[in-house]
Amino acid sequence: MVVGVHRPTQLVIDRQALRENIHTAVTRLATGCELFMVVKANGYGHGATQVAQVAKDAGATGFCVAILDEALELRAAGFNEPILVLGVSDPADAPLMANQRISATVADQAWLTDAVAYLDLAKPAAPLQVHLGLDTGMGRIGFKTPATLQAAVAYLNQQATLNFEGIFTHFSTADSPDDTYFKQQVATWKQLTGALTQLPRYVHVSNSATSLWHAECNINVVRFGVAGYGLNPSGTAVKEPYPLQPALSLVSELVHVKQVAAGESVGYGATYTVSQSEWVGTVPIGYADGYERRLQGFHVLVNGQPCEIIGRICMDQLMVRLPTKYQRGTKVTLVGQDGDETISLQDVADYCGTIHYEIACGFTSRIPRVYRH
Ligand SMILES: Cc1ncc(COP(=O)(O)O)c(C=O)c1O
Repeated sequence: MVVGVHRPTQLVIDRQALRENIHTAVTRLATGCELFMVVKANGYGHGATQVAQVAKDAGATGFCVAILDEALELRAAGFNEPILVLGVSDPADAPLMANQRISATVADQAWLTDAVAYLDLAKPAAPLQVHLGLDTGMGRIGFKTPATLQAAVAYLNQQATLNFEGIFTHFSTADSPDDTYFKQQVATWKQLTGALTQLPRYVHVSNSATSLWHAECNINVVRFGVAGYGLNPSGTAVKEPYPLQPALSLVSELVHVKQVAAGESVGYGATYTVSQSEWVGTVPIGYADGYERRLQGFHVLVNGQPCEIIGRICMDQLMVRLPTKYQRGTKVTLVGQDGDETISLQDVADYCGTIHYEIACGFTSRIPRVYRH
């Protein structure tokens, strides 16, 4: 998708905020525990390689991504740190991953045997680094029984083309005030890993929520994602133990301002009809940018003043009711702070009935990412 550098709509990423969030997390870790920054989905919309660089400067020693292409993007950008692909890759790509020193998540034994067939044929320069995923209650991917896990480890240890580099699980309720299910997952994790006589170099269970609220569970790596971007993993359910600084703002400008007469309508479907004459501004952003149609009726800040979004949000533009006549070029803040007013990603997510994760990574590549500090 083309990047819209000729319109005033921009995602502004505050590198200093990222740096402080990540550095604070690193300093809270026990000695010997590393932080791998999770930069999947284009760094949760913030820009993968730019976030990776800040994270590295702040003390991250590795990265996690969701898919192989995201790992290759980091390698192509020159990052030599360990990179773990958290999703299940294609076994046919095992030789590529081995050659690029990209670690694979493995969720079942059949994957290993398929990968070995490809590795035996391609003879990569190094073994494939394998992290075994354990399903302790997330219900997504991973080994579920001691027997299948033991068999996989035994097989791994016999293969010269594989190296047992890591083992991990993922908690589904670490961000909840109720830790009942979390404790069950911890118990299952202990039962599964307790069945092994040998543990690999990297043993990890912590996402942001676990490392914020259950730090005693951290082992020797945390997979740190959303909190690094300055967002509370729980939304508002649990208070963060230290201040997180949101790194992302979304700004634009009024590109057109007009007075609309009583009885006239605004937007597709004529869903909003003006009852008495009002000033209306047009902002060049729409659902093709990831600014969702569901945000009709929400507000943006125009010159620091909350202004309601009126009428349906279009693919590329939206309209707002202005308190008074403003000049074309007046600043519009869709996410972020202007003066005393702030619109957080959480506010946007709440209005949409979703989570801030979805809003942040939903901003499309048509919006340029601009980096400050
Ligand atoms: C396996 C795994 N680990 C870590 C993370 C990072 O989670 P968070 O962004 O909540 O820190 C994710 C994100 O979805 C994940 O899927």
